[in-house]
Amino acid sequence: MDKTSREYEVCLCCHTTRGEVEDIIRETGVDNLKDLCAAAKIGTKCGGCREDLQMILDDVLGK
Ligand code: FES
Repeated sequence: MDKTSREYEVCLCCHTTRGEVEDIIRETGVDNLKDLCAAAKIGTKCGGCREDLQMILDDVLGK
């Protein structure tokens, strides 16, 4: 699956899609990975999704 698709399941442990993560970033205004993980309750199990979460964060924030 294309990582830029909103349907992309970014956190396999929590079954969270990219679209959900994008919405959480916009709704909560988080601007760093630690706060995003806490706000979305993701990235806290295996940690394998953190690189992708950072990418999504950068995309949404326009970095
Ligand atoms: S894939 Fe997100 S914590 Fe494991």
